[in-house]
Amino acid sequence: APDDVEWVTCDSPVNIALIKYWGKRDEKLILPLNSSVSVTLNQEELRARTTVAVSRNFKEDKMWLNGREQSMKNARLQSVISQIKRLCRKRKIDGDQPNEKLQWKLHICSENNFPTAAGLASSAAGYACLVYALSKLYGVEGDISKIARLGSGSACRSIHGGFVIWNKGDAEDGEDSSTEQIAPETHWPELRVLILVVSDQTKHTASTVGMQTSVETSDLLHQRLQGVPKRIERIKKAILRKDFHSFAEITMKDSNQLHAVCLDTYPPISYLTDTSHHIMQLVHAINQDNSSNMVAYSFDAGPNAFLFMQEKDVPTVLDILHYFYPNSDPHFIRGIHVPGKHDTHV
Ligand code: PMV
Repeated sequence: APDDVEWVTCDSPVNIALIKYWGKRDEKLILPLNSSVSVTLNQEELRARTTVAVSRNFKEDKMWLNGREQSMKNARLQSVISQIKRLCRKRKIDGDQPNEKLQWKLHICSENNFPTAAGLASSAAGYACLVYALSKLYGVEGDISKIARLGSGSACRSIHGGFVIWNKGDAEDGEDSSTEQIAPETHWPELRVLILVVSDQTKHTASTVGMQTSVETSDLLHQRLQGVPKRIERIKKAILRKDFHSFAEITMKDSNQLHAVCLDTYPPISYLTDTSHHIMQLVHAINQDNSSNMVAYSFDAGPNAFLFMQEKDVPTVLDILHYFYPNSDPHFIRGIHVPGKHDTHV
């Protein structure tokens, strides 16, 4: 980079929700109706990489995503940038010169090494990465997870590694809606995640729109909210005890409930395809042949499957997948992802 440019590059991982976030109580502050729990994946295979740069010679703010220029007129993007700058100004100690970089124009360049907006949590990794990179560029410290939340709700969980809870909080201003690590990435080293890329197409209903419609029209969503706290307690216990059998059952039930809510939404939303349903049946068939659960699935707002299992069962599961999907795309099965950490290369 030229001498007059100051820049930072960061990587951020994807997280997959075990107890799903679906529905907001405040659209602007991105406050959820329920708490959620996720696991952050290893960022070698699936990650967002973002470079942020400022220069006194840049003429305007600009942004590129996967090599294509994007409009900066995006309310979420603007809110993230202005919050980071606000924190930077707040840090200024009396008598300090205001950080001149705040006045300079900003360039953002972000790319994912996996399909974007296909229900693979690209926005979570992307916004976590942008916020982290900006915080380094402007020298901001503190709870940046709350700022990541303003970009994409689920992004606040990608700021931490391992197993993470996003507590919904009760305050109107969102001060108590924050994330916390339940267990670090080293806690359950035997856990593995396979991702089955059923489709790399952009999802037909963005999660923001889907959630909104569900909140307005689904009775089941409101029913679900009653049961979430108990589920969260149970999955926390399963994680802490490394009880895969219970972990698998709770994870699958919660994924199914999310998609049931989507179908209960009017007009209905279906993110799952025939292949997704086939994968679910296959998982239940595998589990039925065993005394305890060997595999679990989870689907976000898209048809792609996240399969959880223990390391010792990976060869068996891979054999079964190759048997049932012999002619699938070589990229159908994406890596073996262990719980990961939020690690940055600056
Ligand atoms: O953070 P958003 O607005 O992309 O919504 C994420 C919604 C789900 O991925 C379906 C669930 C979750 O908790 O990540």
